[in-house]
Amino acid sequence: MMRMIRVVLSVLALISFAVAQPSPAWTNDPQIESRVEQLLKQMTLDEKVGQLVQYSAGAPTGPGTGRTDYKKLAAQGLLGSLSNITGASDTNAMQKLAVEKSRLHIPLLFGLDVIHGYRTEFPVPLGLSATWDPALVERASRVAAKEASRAGVRWTFSPMVDIARDARWGRIVEGAGEDPYLGSAIAAAYVRGYQGAKLSDPDSIAACSKHFVGYGAAEGGRDYNTAEIPVRLLRQVYLPPFQATVDAGSATFMSAFEALNEVPASANAFTLTQVLRKEWGFKGFVVSDWNSIGELIPQGVANSGEVAAGKALLAGVDMDMESNLYGPNLAALVKSGVVPESVIDESVRRVLRVKFALGLFERPYVEGKAPDGIAPQDLETARQAAEESFVLLKNEGGTLPLKANGKTIALIGPLADDAGQMLGSWSAKGNPKDVVTLRAALTKQVEATQGHVLYAKGTEIMGASDSGFSDAVGAARKSDIVVLALGEDAFWMTGEAGSRAHLDLPGNQQQLLEAIAATGKPVVLVVFSGRPLVLNWAAQHVPAILEAWFPGVQAGPALANVLLGVSSPSGRLTVSFPRAVGQEPLYYNHFNTGRPADRADLSRPPKANDEKFVSRYVDEQNSALYPFGFGLTYSSVSYSPTTVSATTLGAKDLNAGTVKLTVLAEVRNTGTRAADEVVQLYIRQTGTSIVRPVRELKGFRRVTLAPGQSQKVEFTLGREELRFWNIELKNVVEPAQLTVWVAPDSTQGKPAQVTIAP
Ligand code: BGC
Repeated sequence: MMRMIRVVLSVLALISFAVAQPSPAWTNDPQIESRVEQLLKQMTLDEKVGQLVQYSAGAPTGPGTGRTDYKKLAAQGLLGSLSNITGASDTNAMQKLAVEKSRLHIPLLFGLDVIHGYRTEFPVPLGLSATWDPALVERASRVAAKEASRAGVRWTFSPMVDIARDARWGRIVEGAGEDPYLGSAIAAAYVRGYQGAKLSDPDSIAACSKHFVGYGAAEGGRDYNTAEIPVRLLRQVYLPPFQATVDAGSATFMSAFEALNEVPASANAFTLTQVLRKEWGFKGFVVSDWNSIGELIPQGVANSGEVAAGKALLAGVDMDMESNLYGPNLAALVKSGVVPESVIDESVRRVLRVKFALGLFERPYVEGKAPDGIAPQDLETARQAAEESFVLLKNEGGTLPLKANGKTIALIGPLADDAGQMLGSWSAKGNPKDVVTLRAALTKQVEATQGHVLYAKGTEIMGASDSGFSDAVGAARKSDIVVLALGEDAFWMTGEAGSRAHLDLPGNQQQLLEAIAATGKPVVLVVFSGRPLVLNWAAQHVPAILEAWFPGVQAGPALANVLLGVSSPSGRLTVSFPRAVGQEPLYYNHFNTGRPADRADLSRPPKANDEKFVSRYVDEQNSALYPFGFGLTYSSVSYSPTTVSATTLGAKDLNAGTVKLTVLAEVRNTGTRAADEVVQLYIRQTGTSIVRPVRELKGFRRVTLAPGQSQKVEFTLGREELRFWNIELKNVVEPAQLTVWVAPDSTQGKPAQVTIAP
């Protein structure tokens, strides 16, 4: 009995937590609600089911259904949504069938993967996250929304807010990295950008928070693989960015592919109904991932399509993306009593609510002709985003910025002049013609200062032949300095189905790098990648390394600006860069062991017992080569010790929300150039009912500092930042010893101590 009371109490606690969240306007608009009810009353069962199906009218990202009768379905009112159809004339023509021919005139909703831009491609999401600039992410997604909506697309399958701690997973490129705090801030920024001030504005598009949930924890980093995430970890790390999107008003969610704790995410009532709807109060609809309902069969929880459809719907998946299982099966499942019609009604309500909220009934068509090309101000946003996303990993002896005046620069590598690659893994309507490559931009800027750029490709991205090496080495020898543009293939090695078991430079690029370094010329390595790579050799032998991700249409101008010092690099890592693939999953906010290796020399194998019997590898260091939060600028910034407004606070007061801690440090630009510094706040709690991470990000601020300038940067820590899901699975602040750091990355800073008393 006691146990039952405890369970009831904790459920009540969860519900009161949900109610406290502010709700965005469209979720409780009485006018929308009454229009939904009126329409629902008139619908036949087949028409209701029709609202719950989506097919792809274009390029597939998975197995197709073989169906192409979309026009007929639209005219009969048996289709809710189509994906991969774009452009005013195609979308309007399809919409006309639904609006004018179908009995109830319900408009279609057109969806597309607008992931890091529609036509104006921005850096890939992992790169965008490295800006640590949510306002910029919001501006970028606003641009994407404007362009997509003009082409009839009012729904994007973005943002991807999966936390990813394993660099092998190809889709790490699509998210904001390994941290739930930063991930939440960025997730909410995408939603604000896509959905604009009002969802009903013609240039707003509905967001889709994906992939709910745990997809990023795929075992071994292999795409689509199983994820085992204990429920506390789920709540602490994987769920918060999703909840942040609900709070920001995200209109839709996508259920993930993987089996989460033995229950496929697309048939998981705990996540889709208990957490998402009951606890968080989500009012929009959930779409499955591509054929993820059909995949319940190979996963082994359904032996037929009919059972799969029933399981997914009852768990909380409202719309079937491309499995073609809801359309043929739901009506029969209602008739046989397996699925109550009230469940169908509820799913239909959710879909219609979003369609009304988008204003589709008032404005089903796209008006006018979309301009072909990119507006100058959007290009400017793309350049700024790219510049802010670059992370300077190493810069020995001030190798960068390049002193190009009258100098010869060799530009070598398969990514120096490949426009298509710069668009990244999901480029919607990105056009290589819009891309300015590094070669084009660097040549132009260097020649303007009487310098020269000698270009040699050297090898292919996945090259095996060294026939281009001699030209490349020759170019290096004739030059004062070499810029090497190396990295991954954006399409084949990053993104969906792009998992890697090796994290080195692919093909023979490492050999090319070594051949060029052997010329003795100073080398600047520019890395294009969708994930952390293992860069040990370069870190030891090359004076400067810049991580560039895949920067989008303004790749070249942004890179040239940073390489030549027109602007200073200001990105910071949102993922840990490993020293060896065997360290994965590698993330900064790990727990401590009982045998930390703090005092052992990890740069060599153990020699004594106290070096051996600690938590370590005998053949590699534990730490990241480049840690979370890390990034250099062309200046140097010093940090004062961290100070706090109180050395003791009460857990009770913190839980009541009546007290907060102020944390402060002074940062000073001690160099000779202006710099953007990303000031980061970390905490650690000990003496708690469960183990807590060695560090957790709880605040960050990007500040611009002129040479010599100093600034006090202040943060507050209150209930939101200090609570966690404790041993009783309650989300509370516990009495603890609290360490706080204001720091330039997750490994530095001079800490302050605070006691959280009962
Ligand atoms: C991906 C989703 C994507 C969907 C639609 C799936 O294969 O996992 O992220 O939104 O396809 O293209």
